Amino acid sequence: MKNEKRLITAALTYVNNIPHVGHIVGCHLPADIYARFCRSYGYNTTFVGGSDMHGTPSLVTAQELNIPVEELTSNLHEIHKKIYEKLNISYDIYSNTHTPTHEKITTDFFLDLNKNGYITEGEIEMFYCENCDMFLPDRFVVGTCPRCNYESANGDQCEKCDSLFSLNELKNAHCKVCGKPANLKKSKHIFLKLSNATEMLDKWIETKKEIFRPHVYAEAKKWVNEGLKDRCISRDITWGFPIPLKGYENKVLYVWFDAPIGYISITKELSEQKYKDLWLNDNAKIYNFVGKDNIQFHTVFFPSMLLEQGKYNKAYNVVGLNFLNYEGQKFSKSKKIGVFCNALLNDNPEVDIDTLRAYLTTIIPENRDTDYKWEDFKNNCNAELVGKFGNLFNRTLNMIKSYFNGTLNCDEKDLNQNELDAEILNAITEMPTKIAESFEKAELRDAYKLIMNYATIGNGYLEKSAPWQLMKQEKVKEAEKVLFNALNLCASLCIVASPIIPTKVTELWQNQIGLEGNPTKNDMWQNASKLNIKKGHTIKNIQPIFERIDNEKLEKIKQILAEPFDIAEHFKK
Ligand code: 2FM
Ligand code: ZN
Repeated sequence: MKNEKRLITAALTYVNNIPHVGHIVGCHLPADIYARFCRSYGYNTTFVGGSDMHGTPSLVTAQELNIPVEELTSNLHEIHKKIYEKLNISYDIYSNTHTPTHEKITTDFFLDLNKNGYITEGEIEMFYCENCDMFLPDRFVVGTCPRCNYESANGDQCEKCDSLFSLNELKNAHCKVCGKPANLKKSKHIFLKLSNATEMLDKWIETKKEIFRPHVYAEAKKWVNEGLKDRCISRDITWGFPIPLKGYENKVLYVWFDAPIGYISITKELSEQKYKDLWLNDNAKIYNFVGKDNIQFHTVFFPSMLLEQGKYNKAYNVVGLNFLNYEGQKFSKSKKIGVFCNALLNDNPEVDIDTLRAYLTTIIPENRDTDYKWEDFKNNCNAELVGKFGNLFNRTLNMIKSYFNGTLNCDEKDLNQNELDAEILNAITEMPTKIAESFEKAELRDAYKLIMNYATIGNGYLEKSAPWQLMKQEKVKEAEKVLFNALNLCASLCIVASPIIPTKVTELWQNQIGLEGNPTKNDMWQNASKLNIKKGHTIKNIQPIFERIDNEKLEKIKQILAEPFDIAEHFKK
């Protein structure tokens, strides 16, 4: 086990709906694969996540459904948690931001900032509804767009023509809750003096030049170069944490103020020791996995808060991703375009989780936007998982069973007899290191490609060594050696593929190859370059590990996974 401590975080998802596959690919899955790799590689790893309970999106949805926002968010939080469990996202803790621990840490954080002189007061103008007797956050105000006359523009932006404008330009503004006209009114607010953090932040970002991905570094730099502006961190709504200052009784802290502090409080909820080791000791390395639209908050806003407060560790790397599209279009819950995860709540034997995880890995938007395509889902399964990976195991195990009744009696000294043997033994020594290099850089698509190349090396070895010919020529010992080497490669493959397809490799390792222990165990990676199969080894059961997907099956899977989720229906029950 290595001494290095690592904390992996996945962005805390809003719970105003259920997650769709964009959330999974854009954050939960890459964070999980990375955490699984870190554990396997022997880092002292902690992986935390949770639901972002506050904020206006949940409040708007609760109002629309006419249910208390606490009920909406706690119900959806459980659904999120269950869906991530079904996808085998290996959180050490999946909590949420509406807990007493989180409130305490957030309040103390705010008070520290205030004590350090980074909090200031100011006035802003906002829409107000006399009828509802409340200030209306952006999403609660509807009006006509001053640019294109679209009638459902929200606050200061129009989703139809994509323009931003000032609140006083919105025409015919009215309250989304009751439909009555809304008027602009001045209100007192709290601001975080981000401008004072510019220099500190810039220095910090410069230390990340070689660590952040280029697009992440560029985005952080862009904000700093434009000059940071003080930012309003109070909201005139009732859902969120109270502001611990006199005169702000009817306001709450801005959701983006408390949400990232959630990483700290959720770690503390997991264990006091981990909280100290990971947040109060800057030897620990923190990795934030975040979607494209969260990059700014994790490279500018949150680190500025941390720098100004001065107590906690900052991220070592912000692994920012890009967007995922669906068959060439944007995902849209309202237009019901995409892959939703509600079907995962039930056990659907048609949908194999590792087949899904493997496909999703190929479309993680690491360096550019990517596209979910059903045809690619099918092809990845048939060509890669069945054709390369599964095929290698199946052929190797079947030959061992039919030629040697399941037991191999090779001596280690006899394994390296020709160029082909040397090549495969060399691959077993070197491929795990290469694969680890890609995983380490969180280049997960590359890691997956290398894993499939590794399987191809195994298939090529079988093809060229042709144990079936050797058997015909009665070169039994030679055939046995080939299968022994191939089976060792299979075992190694189980370990290196474990971050992506953990269930399948466990099944292969334990029930088919017949090895003791578990390929997903902590600190297992070092065994990937060793010969795990010993003289006299007997294999167990043989079964195809991945199933081919034909068009008919694809249709079925598509129907299950693309079934839209009707949130109103859900809460009627
Ligand atoms: O985009 C979102 O879903 C946000 N709730 C992410 C918050 S990440 C973190 F800071 F908590
Ligand atoms: Zn109203």
